Formats: sequence, C-alpha cells, structure tokens
Amino acid sequence: MSALLAAVPWPAPSSCAAAVALLAIAAVWLLCLRLLPFMARRRRMKTEARLPPGSFGWPLVGETLDFVSCAYSPQPESFVDKRRLRHGSAVFRSHLFGAATVVSADAEVSRAVLQSDARAFVPWYPRSLTELMGKSSILLINGSLQRRVHGLAGAFFKSPRLKRQVTADMQRRLAPALAAWRAQGPGARLRIQDHAKTIVFEILVRGLIGLEAGPEMQQLKQQFQEFIVGLMSLPIKLPGTRLYRSLQAKKRMARLIQRIIQEKRRKRIIAGEGDGEAPRDAIDVLMGDGSGELTDELISDNMIDLMIPAEDSVPVLITLAIKFLSECPLALQQLEEENMQLKRRKTDMGETLQWTDYMSLSFTQHVITETLRMGNIISGIMRKAVRDVEVKGHLIPKGWCVFVYFRSVHLDDTLYEDPYKFNPWRWKEKDMMSTSSFTPFGGGQRLCPGLDLARLEASIFLHHLVTSFRWVAEEDHIVNFPTVRLKGGMPIRVTSKDKILHAG
Ligand code: HEM
Repeated sequence: MSALLAAVPWPAPSSCAAAVALLAIAAVWLLCLRLLPFMARRRRMKTEARLPPGSFGWPLVGETLDFVSCAYSPQPESFVDKRRLRHGSAVFRSHLFGAATVVSADAEVSRAVLQSDARAFVPWYPRSLTELMGKSSILLINGSLQRRVHGLAGAFFKSPRLKRQVTADMQRRLAPALAAWRAQGPGARLRIQDHAKTIVFEILVRGLIGLEAGPEMQQLKQQFQEFIVGLMSLPIKLPGTRLYRSLQAKKRMARLIQRIIQEKRRKRIIAGEGDGEAPRDAIDVLMGDGSGELTDELISDNMIDLMIPAEDSVPVLITLAIKFLSECPLALQQLEEENMQLKRRKTDMGETLQWTDYMSLSFTQHVITETLRMGNIISGIMRKAVRDVEVKGHLIPKGWCVFVYFRSVHLDDTLYEDPYKFNPWRWKEKDMMSTSSFTPFGGGQRLCPGLDLARLEASIFLHHLVTSFRWVAEEDHIVNFPTVRLKGGMPIRVTSKDKILHAG
C-alpha cells in the first residue's frame, strides 16, 4: 500500500479530483490496515466470549487420546468430569475425532440439541461408520425423507401386531433354549450375552425381513458379524483392510435382502397390488410406501442398519440387567416374585402370556429403566451444526460438532441420588417419560422408534429366566468402548427351579 502511495504524484492544490482520489486511497488503506483487522479481532473476541470454555488440546489429535483412554477405563465419564471441574461448566469445547466439538453434559442443552431439526444440526458419525451405513441410512438422512422412513418404521415397531408376533416368536424360541440349559443339569454354565444375541437377532430379523431360522439366517448372522466389526475401523477402503471386508459382507447381505424384496414384488404382482393384507415385516411396510422415494437399495440398507440393535443393543440390555440383578439380591427377589405371580395367574387361567402382560410388570420395567440409566448402552450422540447455533448462551459455530453425552447426565448426582447404585425403586416416584434428563433412547425427531420393542424383548427374556432358573453369576466386567458389552459374555451357572423343588 505504501508503495502504491509513493507511486502516485502529489496533486496540485487545484486538482480537486486527484485530492479526493488520494483521500479515498488513504481511507481504504486505513480501513484495510487498521479497521478491518480490528473489526475481525472484535468479532473473534465476541464469538470467543459466546463459545463454551475449554481447550482444543494437542495439534491434530486434539483431546481424542484422553477421551479414548477414559472410554476404555471403568469410568468413561471421567473425561467429562475432569473438564467440567477444570472449566467450571458442564458444556465445554474440545477437539475430538478430528472435529472442533462442543461437549454437553448439561441436561437442558442436550435436550435442546435433541429437539432441534436438520435446519440446525445433522447427524455426525466417524468416517468408517458413514461408509458402512451408506447415504440412504435412516441414521444419516435428513428432512422429509427421514421423517417418512422414521414414521413408517416407528408405526410398525409400535404396532400391537408386531408386538404379538415378537412375543409369540420369542416364547417359541426360548422354550428349546431353556430345555437345553435344563438338560445340562444343575450348575450349567452359560455365557448369557451370546445366548441373548442369538435369540434376539433371530426374532428381530424375522420382524424386519421375514426370514425364518435356518441356513440363510445363519449365513446372514455370519455376514452381519463380519460387517459390524468394521463400524469402528480405520476409514481405509483398500482390499484386505477391515473396512473393505465389512463392506464386502454388507454387499452380500444386501444381495440376500434384495432377493427377498424382489420375491415379495413378484408375489404382489401375482396376488394383485394393494390386496389389503397387513404388512408382515418392515420390508412390507417400506415397500407399501407409495411415494416412489424408497428404492430397493434404501430399503435393504436400512434393514441392515436395523440389525445393529437386534444383534447388539437389546442383547446388551438383557445381559446388563442380569449383571446388575446378580449384584442386587433384593431387586432380583422382587423381580422373581412379580414374574412368578404373573406366571401362576396365567397358568391358573389356562392362558398364554401376551405382550401386554409383560409390559404391565411395573417392577420389571423399573429394572429395565434403571439398567438403561446405569448401562448407557448408547453413551451419547454426535451432531454437526449447519449454521451458528446458540443454546442456553453457548455458541456452537457452523461446521462444529456437538457431542450430547447422555452418560454424564444419567450419572449426575444432582439429578439421581447415589447415581452409581443400582436402584430400580427410584423409578417408583420418578416418571420416566417426563424426566427430561433421562434419554437412553435419544429424543426429538430421532427418538428411537424401537424403544418399546427393546423393553418388550428384555422383559420376555428376564421373565423366562427368573421363573425357570436360579443362577450364580461369575465375576465379569463391563467394557464401554467402542461399544458397551460384558468382557467375558457374563457367565452364569443356572439350576432349574424344578430341580431345586425336587431336591427340597
Ligand atoms: C436397548 C436398545 C436400544 C437403545 C439403547 C437404542 C438407542 C437409540 C438412540 C439413542 C437413538 C437416537 C440416535 C440419534 O439421535 O441419532 C436411536 C435411534 C434409532 N433406533 Fe434405537 N435403540 C435401541 C433399540 C432399537 C431397536 C430394537 C430398534 C428397531 C428394531 C431401533 C431402531 C432405531 C432406529 C431406526 C433409530 C433411528 C431413528 C432416526 O434417526 O430417525 N432401536 N436408538
């Protein structure tokens, strides 16, 4: 700029136009050199003042290493607890998994983020996960398409018809399993997590794609296990890598599901479109959508995504409940009494158990609720801000992520007395639905549509276990990262109640 000024000849006093031009140049120079940086600095300071407190940690890795090391420890929430103390705020900024992130352990802020829609936040997942889920996954789509798929799937998962089917299937599937455990004699050793996985996967997959137990189901389960291990892998798609093998497994699953879809289409044409039959599975529900937006690829991708809770979340809920009950004999006794009463009543009336019977067991439901609070099967969710968003005075700038960390809220001693104690009785006074700090199934437009189904399956499993067996649990530990599970699969030694009665 100074070189530019030197090059301009000094004007004669009469040359008004030249003087004005010079003044203008000087003004622009002043603006560029002094005012603009000053304004930018002011803007930055203002933005910084609205940002939550915190630190970005190390270059490149940010605070990810500490996050991961805490996540592997028995107290993953220690990452948040330390910073909460250090920064004096339950909402703080950090840098996690390559992204500038606002972490929220504040129930009100978390709720506001969950309630907002795609005009403010969109889902954010690590690269390997988005690669494997695909563009049309319900977990990634936004706007009207997400609402459509969510609405259709949610209505089906909540329907009494599906709940009746799942109850009947689960009772039928549990009977031979219980008989086999009994046949092994008193003290038979079971890894309950494996059994819960096998049983729940078969039942939910039948509800999703109508597949019966058999060789195809076995093949699907094998492929699914190959697929799921890649969800938390390095995002490198070269042959031989973990992600590549998982993608190949997904392709094989998609082929099988698309064959099922085509077969259904063929049958529909023969029977005449719109024959008025109620949908039998989730594929029927999505195929019945008349919008033309739901392609076969979208349907098959989403069926695979929906197998994640079938193979993982629900079995882990069951396994954790058994662990917590084993450590709290009083709760186990009350659960057993409640379920035995129901069993006796139904036997006396000569009736089989219905889904409504299981869901009406209030203490059993409290046990499941408390397991969800302590277990934090989904510890939190990530969103990305599509514009600058201000929540409770905290700025979340456009392009930043927000990590809504349920776990810290669920274990907050200002919200839950003695939060590390398994206390199902606390839910006698608390109304779970109106406790806004309790979000194991998320909230807002993305609230888990499978929440009733998850509770129902856990209740049925627990009912049959506690009414048929006594057990002694072996020592096992909860691993919280990358997904929640029991390290040793939760081994228990079961003895049939018939044997105890006969021995008595
Ligand atoms: C213990 C079991 C389960 C837990 C803890 C759980 C938890 C969650 C959470 C926290 C979300 C919200 C994700 C977000 O906001 O981004 C979610 C979404 C979802 N869940 Fe579940 N879930 C469970 C079981 C199930 C089951 C059994 C199904 C269906 C078979 C299911 C289907 C879904 C679907 C489709 C979504 C995505 C909804 C959307 O984005 O529109 N979940 N779940």
